[in-house]
Amino acid sequence: REPRTIFSGIQPTGVPHLGNYLGAMRQWRELQAEAHPEDRLLFSIVDLHAITMPQDARQLRQRSREMLAALIAIGLDPKRCTLFYQSAVPAHSELLWILSCTSSMGYLGRMTQWKSKLTENNNRMSLDDDALASKLKLGLFSYPVLQAADILVHRATHVPVGDDQRQHLEFARECATNFNAAFKNGRLLAPETITTETPRVMSLQNPLSKMSKSSPSHKSRIEITSEPAEIRARLRCAVTDSDNWVTYDPARRPGVANLLELWAQCDPTRRSPAALAEDLHGATLGALKRQAAEAIIAELDGVRDRYREALQRKGGKWLDEVAHEGAFRARQSARRTMLMVRDVVGL
Ligand code: ADP
Ligand code: NA
Repeated sequence: REPRTIFSGIQPTGVPHLGNYLGAMRQWRELQAEAHPEDRLLFSIVDLHAITMPQDARQLRQRSREMLAALIAIGLDPKRCTLFYQSAVPAHSELLWILSCTSSMGYLGRMTQWKSKLTENNNRMSLDDDALASKLKLGLFSYPVLQAADILVHRATHVPVGDDQRQHLEFARECATNFNAAFKNGRLLAPETITTETPRVMSLQNPLSKMSKSSPSHKSRIEITSEPAEIRARLRCAVTDSDNWVTYDPARRPGVANLLELWAQCDPTRRSPAALAEDLHGATLGALKRQAAEAIIAELDGVRDRYREALQRKGGKWLDEVAHEGAFRARQSARRTMLMVRDVVGL
């Protein structure tokens, strides 16, 4: 087959949770395992995306390091993959600007993530309201253009992301098409998507919203570096419903369905959520929570120790070396695209 270039990113906004892991990161490890020698794999810690929301400088830097350690802890090999901080490769921002000159405001305005920000802030959809308009930042609006730049600058052919990012991927393809149409000899490569078959992992406190690093409630998520006791406790207080038996019914029992799906994703014998519910026929929700917790603990076995190890190795210097090497390789990868881009634009 043709050599692949695989690119994906994750925000350094906190320790990754089960949603990140099952929706994206676990698949990155699988792609690494099946990669051919001539395939390229790039995984970026997207700190420029993180600052679309206010961040504390020290905390952002710390979390970026922790994310690098987490990527290594789940099994990405820095020799095999280019692991880098987005801000260490200025071409990402440069291409963002150039792409924004051929991107449609209308298309961006229709993105679900942006629309949900509008409603979340004021329950209205109009930028005519000055107070709302000054609260909403340009960076948040153009976030998908930066995502497109991330992908296109490395000529990614495959972009493994969670189901929540499907729309942004489609937009990145659109960006490539617009650029190529606007500039004679423009040759940006529209990527294919690989979204995982995993269902979106939902919050443990509100099964109608997705599990997210940025949710203020710690109880809503399970971090991949949690102790077994913490995982059991999070599951124990997960919000379900008042029927104390187990059925798989995503529409009517979303909380219970989310636990069954989490368990199914971590089940070594790959039983379906419906089959797991069958197996628990007659059992209580407490039993479901206990079994799901044990499956998750087994799936995450070793991650916590490898995370600690990566952070502490050579007194922290080893991670700096990994980041340095990754930045060097990513800059070289981006350079080739930017030579073409600058040439066809006339810069
Ligand atoms: P978060 O939304 O938690 O800040 P990111 O935006 O950094 O996470 O996303 C990193 C990757 O994790 C993306 O590929 C995204 O699709 C995936 N992802 C994030 N949250 C979930 C979820 N709840 N379920 C499945 N996949 C998710
Ligand atoms: Na996100």
